[in-house]
Amino acid sequence: MFPHSIDPESLRERLVTEHQRLEGLFQAVLAAFEADDRDGVEQNWTAFDSQLEAHMRIEEELLIPRLEQHHPEAAQAILAEHRLIRARLMELDTGVDLHLVNCETARAFIDELRQHARHEDEMLYAWSDRNLPASERHALIERLAPGTADKCVHVVSSAGSTL
Ligand SMILES: [Fe+2]
Ligand SMILES: [Fe+2]
Repeated sequence: MFPHSIDPESLRERLVTEHQRLEGLFQAVLAAFEADDRDGVEQNWTAFDSQLEAHMRIEEELLIPRLEQHHPEAAQAILAEHRLIRARLMELDTGVDLHLVNCETARAFIDELRQHARHEDEMLYAWSDRNLPASERHALIERLAPGTADKCVHVVSSAGSTL
């Protein structure tokens, strides 16, 4: 079910692969920009936008509340980053619709996402692997399994890993 390099017991590793998957979706957006393929930009952007939102929702419903019980300030910092990301997604959504977003703007956004991903990996994902009981980690991994309708991810990075 998982590539050999992924520990199936590790929620952190599973979520990091989701970030990488989101990064791949965003790279498709950038490739469409570079090819000046406006339809491709819109289609890839829509897929990326909806899957990133689903990823953040899973984190907010299932993971961040657990962190908040023990480290409320760390949890609030991650939620604040999610609010900023959603605000940027809304701006970019409008820009993509109106063909106002350019490649540089898109690249700047992915840099922001990568920064969030690194923060989240260190603060939230590592904490989850160390502190959540196996049953909770497994339930979350199930939610992330391929084919699950409302899958998550947070994008992000080949260079660190993501949102
Ligand atoms: Fe994430
Ligand atoms: Fe996140």
